[in-house]
Amino acid sequence: MTSTSTSIDTEKYGPWAVIAGGSEGVGAVFADELARSGLNLVLIARNKDALESTAEQARKHGTDVRILVQDLLADDAVANIAAATSGREVGLLIFNAGANTYGNEFVFGDMKRFRDVMTLNIDRQLELVQLFGKPMAERGRGGIVLLGSVTGFVGSGHQSIYSAAKAFSRVFAEGLWWEMRDRGVDVVELVLGVTRTPAMARAGLNFDAPGLRVSEPADVAREGLAHIADGPVWVVDAEQEGARARSQFPRGERVLAEAAAVAAMMGR
Ligand SMILES: NC(=O)c1ccc[n+]([C@@H]2O[C@H](COP(=O)([O-])OP(=O)(O)OC[C@H]3O[C@@H](n4cnc5c(N)ncnc54)[C@H](OP(=O)(O)O)[C@@H]3O)[C@@H](O)[C@H]2O)c1
Repeated sequence: MTSTSTSIDTEKYGPWAVIAGGSEGVGAVFADELARSGLNLVLIARNKDALESTAEQARKHGTDVRILVQDLLADDAVANIAAATSGREVGLLIFNAGANTYGNEFVFGDMKRFRDVMTLNIDRQLELVQLFGKPMAERGRGGIVLLGSVTGFVGSGHQSIYSAAKAFSRVFAEGLWWEMRDRGVDVVELVLGVTRTPAMARAGLNFDAPGLRVSEPADVAREGLAHIADGPVWVVDAEQEGARARSQFPRGERVLAEAAAVAAMMGR
């Protein structure tokens, strides 16, 4: 699928957008699309070079693009983000950072590394939603996009914490969507399947594995922006059938089917 650019309503979602995880992959496409629409940006990630290069590309559209080199796991992350965005009217938050960083059989795993997955996907997400969502609700306009995964529809061995964190995000998005809809703020959990991002490539995922459906960052980012007002949950087209299947009962059958699919994907 090759998608075309989506135009964002800058009156509703501007003048500034914050992308937590805005340096590469889906986050970099969000940056380019939003700058093309006329939004100013604050891009947050750890790798400075990748941030600079994405910012430079986005600035070609003529908007103000700032970067913040920040590990979202750091204790002072939210305070630093608040300071870096102080005085800027943020009308759109995209919480993109969150791919799994640790997989292990839970009872034998390293609790600190599991906790990092939760801190990023749960704590930081909630803290940034509150930081930017409260002024949006007070202004009566804005948008919040949270990045979800089809794995958030079913428990998955060796990544039980990641899939549970993504389930948390999806269900949180539903409640938040209800709370914010009468306040003029759109909330959507954008659910992806396997997507050809640099993070997944670095993790060693074989995008050419037989039978594996792989989405492109440009397609899913543009689809997400086109459906920003179609919350609380937007599953990308390519994954809707898969998300529906993962939601069925009895749950044991779904968990076993997921385990078989993951094993095939990993060539086990
Ligand atoms: N790719 C897939 O197959 C797939 C499938 C389903 C769902 N998703 C979801 O889509 C989102 C994007 O995934 P992704 O594959 O692009 O990987 P990712 O590792 O979440 O990276 C996305 C962005 O977040 C930044 N980031 C990651 N950890 C960070 C941290 N601790 N502090 C600050 N920034 C951080 C990355 O830059 P730095 O590394 O430089 O910090 C990058 O800009 C995630 O929420 C993921 O769960 C992805």
